[in-house]
Amino acid sequence: MTVDEVRVRPARRADADALREIDDATLSSQVSPADPVDPQAAPVDPFARHGPEDVLVAEVAGRVLGHVVLGRPTPLRSNAHVWSIMGLAVHPDAQGRGIGTRLVRAAVDEARRRGGRRLTLRVLATNGAARALYAAQGFVREGVLAGEFVLDGVEVDDLLLARRL
Ligand SMILES: CC(C)(COP(=O)(O)OP(=O)(O)OC[C@H]1O[C@@H](n2cnc3c(N)ncnc32)[C@H](O)[C@@H]1OP(=O)(O)O)[C@@H](O)C(=O)NCCC(=O)NCCS
Repeated sequence: MTVDEVRVRPARRADADALREIDDATLSSQVSPADPVDPQAAPVDPFARHGPEDVLVAEVAGRVLGHVVLGRPTPLRSNAHVWSIMGLAVHPDAQGRGIGTRLVRAAVDEARRRGGRRLTLRVLATNGAARALYAAQGFVREGVLAGEFVLDGVEVDDLLLARRL
């Protein structure tokens, strides 16, 4: 697979299973503060908090291999020029081939298209791969929530990153 074969498009409800599979395969305490997935619980709806209109997926030969979620940090008019990346993941089978970069660039374009002037996100200090990707795409650190999460018994900082659009 080359990055030229990757198509980024808006998500559809029918992508739910693929998105859940990607989340299940990628989410760990190294990259996310989320509670571990309970295998006994009902499957999580990946669109529960953000509908398909706020999700972009990366597809290669008809297979969804990654997604990025856009949202607004608050519903306030005074904050309407700010968009946030609320989630980003690439299937382990397809990591390291530029898909994450394509998704972040697509989120930048989409946030601009929606009138955004600033794009923010939060990333765990322990998530070296994501931090390197975001730095390469022009995000800078604007803040740190020191010891914001306790993961595997250790306090981990959460970093606030941002870039202009
Ligand atoms: C972070 C993530 C989305 C990157 O996706 P990807 O498709 O592998 O990223 P890319 O191939 O576009 O890599 C872009 C850059 O990220 C960095 N990077 C990616 N994987 C890395 C790794 N394992 N270690 C260090 N840096 C890494 C590198 O700087 C890379 O640039 P390079 O190829 O020029 O060295 C992917 O690793 C992932 O899904 N991780 C789990 C979920 C997650 O952490 N989400 C972010 C939450 S804030």
